[in-house]
Amino acid sequence: MKVFECGVCGHLEFNEAPEVCLVCRAKKDAFSENADAIKKPADPANLTDAEKKHIPKIVVVKECGLIPGQCCTDVHVKVGEIQHVMVPEHFIRCIDYYLNYAFISRVWLSPEACNPGAALHLNAPSGTITAIENCNQHGNWMAEVEV
Ligand SMILES: [Fe+2]
Repeated sequence: MKVFECGVCGHLEFNEAPEVCLVCRAKKDAFSENADAIKKPADPANLTDAEKKHIPKIVVVKECGLIPGQCCTDVHVKVGEIQHVMVPEHFIRCIDYYLNYAFISRVWLSPEACNPGAALHLNAPSGTITAIENCNQHGNWMAEVEV
């Protein structure tokens, strides 16, 4: 699958560049294809500690009850299996969510007040959920889960 990166804000889109960046509103020509935009573990079966600190962990909770009377699929994202630090010099800047490879939301994280995690309440009973976190020092890391 192709990955396109916004040259203004770094936002990533799958398959094709959008007319306008959904994060910073830059125009389509600000995007370029970047096959290396998302870091990949060297050996997925034997993750290093550094990789465990960056690859998101996705936990899905159905029927959480916050939004009564309709579908609510909670998607919790934690960075990562070994918790990433949140200090001003080194922190998780944001977590982007995608449903079926279409961008749906970005959660910004401040190193002073936020843990390295986020949650969304999706009105979606099924689909592929992708989370991409951005570390200010170590780039973009991805995980996905089928709901
Ligand atoms: Fe990092």
